[in-house]
Amino acid sequence: MKAQINGIALAYTDKGAGLPVVFLHAFPLNRTMWGAQEEALASGYRVITIDLRGHGESDAPLWHYTLEQAADDVRALLDHLSVPHAVFVGLSMGGYILFTFYRKFADRVKGLILADTRAQADTPEGRLGRFQMAQVAYTQGPAAIADLMIPKLLSPGTIQSNPTLVQNVRSMIEGNQISGIAGDLMAMAERPDSIPLLHLITCPAQIIVGELDVATPPADSKLMAGQIPRAQLATIPGAAHLSNLERPELFNRIVGDFLSNCSKG
Ligand code: MLT
Repeated sequence: MKAQINGIALAYTDKGAGLPVVFLHAFPLNRTMWGAQEEALASGYRVITIDLRGHGESDAPLWHYTLEQAADDVRALLDHLSVPHAVFVGLSMGGYILFTFYRKFADRVKGLILADTRAQADTPEGRLGRFQMAQVAYTQGPAAIADLMIPKLLSPGTIQSNPTLVQNVRSMIEGNQISGIAGDLMAMAERPDSIPLLHLITCPAQIIVGELDVATPPADSKLMAGQIPRAQLATIPGAAHLSNLERPELFNRIVGDFLSNCSKG
């Protein structure tokens, strides 16, 4: 499905009925990374997955991308779908967007699942790395970004033993346009520090992290869990950054337990 949102076509999938659960994907992937979650949860919940601006089947205009704009797109899509409140699941960049979303629209949030993400802003070196990666995207295209990103996204064990998953991740990355990849990198580079927000998050929160995540390591998740008042932390053994793809059953169980508590509350 596509909707005209804030001047662009935004692609999304809306399946099932019940408590709405909105999934925001990682950089530089798309909404199909949530396939296993959609399959497991759509019998009990209304599962909404979104291709963020610049990704997958959504438009990728050459423009000044910001996480604020991404949060505004999500809110406008939910208005379009008549969804006043939802539980939100964001992995990595999806989590960064959720901090912005919560800052602006906390009244829309029934619960937060922050997976393989971090509250800190980029360091100066991290920011420089973003600009270098944007240059690679510009000069060499999305395939070169896939080469750089895959070792950061998946564990060495997964890369060795699961070529189908590696190819699936590669296809998602290669399916993006350079404008979207570079736009996201700039947006992430300028995101603010969200540590001061953490103690103000009053909804139920679940933090999830792959034990082997090197992109947003478990220490970052511990920090969030220590400062968000109602947060619980779950570590997924053997998984790296894309923990939902590497250990989908365990990821789904954690999400399912959290959602059933949110449904009761
Ligand atoms: C992601 O998975 O969204 C990215 O690794 C986030 C980042 O580069 O900070």
